[in-house]
Amino acid sequence: MRIGLLHSLIRKEEKLLIEAFRHAGVEPVMIDDRGLIMDFHTAPDIDILVERSINHSRALHALRLFESAGVCCVNSHRVAQTCGDKLLTTAALRDHGVAQPECRVAFTETSALAAIEELGYPVVLKPAVGSWGRLLSKINDRDAAETVLEHKTVLGSYHHSIFYIQQYVEKHGRDIRSFVVGDDCIAAIYRSSDHWITNTARGAQASRCEVTPELAEVSLAAAHAVGGGIVAVDLFESEAGLLVNEVNYTMEFRNSIDTTGVNIPQLVADYVIGLVKQ
Ligand SMILES: Nc1ncnc2c1ncn2[C@@H]1O[C@H](COP(=O)(O)OP(=O)(O)O)[C@@H](O)[C@H]1O
Ligand SMILES: [Mg+2]
Repeated sequence: MRIGLLHSLIRKEEKLLIEAFRHAGVEPVMIDDRGLIMDFHTAPDIDILVERSINHSRALHALRLFESAGVCCVNSHRVAQTCGDKLLTTAALRDHGVAQPECRVAFTETSALAAIEELGYPVVLKPAVGSWGRLLSKINDRDAAETVLEHKTVLGSYHHSIFYIQQYVEKHGRDIRSFVVGDDCIAAIYRSSDHWITNTARGAQASRCEVTPELAEVSLAAAHAVGGGIVAVDLFESEAGLLVNEVNYTMEFRNSIDTTGVNIPQLVADYVIGLVKQ
């Protein structure tokens, strides 16, 4: 069995995945995206590709090319494309009736301001493509809205010309990150912080969160909506129940193994091996 592992830097997650594959008796074929040259003739000599790139655009394009060469990829190009863009994620969740925070999309400074005023303060403005809590703005009033919108318009790149605006959800210092592998919600953590941004990359503390039937159901519905596979789902606990904030397709899990007591990399490796055996 030949399992390709597409990577950039080998982070803790990739090390753990390599160990897990070895534990299951498979030596992964390491494919460094920094040295990769794809042609449009040769089929790569692997049965499946596990995508672990650090860079969204590399991942996205590599997946497209591996799939066109006939290689099954986890996650698929479709999942990477949808999850890598918050606007496409919102559309996919809506198409599948998954609950999420109220959201508006606008394309100009003027219409974005109108959308913000319509939603009501506070709102959160996010780049459609981005992660690790970077370049998010919580906007509490009109003055701040005008300032951020003007800065984005004058100083921002093309990415900042699409305004993705969400209602701010009062989440009492924490959100939930759940882990989905295939048809199972295998684990979840709370991410708690004094700051409104609760990414662990921004210093939030991880603690164990029980996978209740409701959490499993919403997480699986979110995963299914974006195309399934191996994903991490960000959720808010709201008065209206769980709301899905976003879905991540190259999931990080280093802080969640000891916290949850679940061997996440082994479950991922076993799932991938199962796909090849199918
Ligand atoms: N609408 C919102 N209401 C409240 N908190 C939010 C909202 N959107 C984002 N956050 C906070 O910011 C964090 C990062 O936002 P997220 O949309 O997951 O972007 P990223 O892709 O950068 O992780 C979330 O985990 C949450 O703590
Ligand atoms: Mg997130």
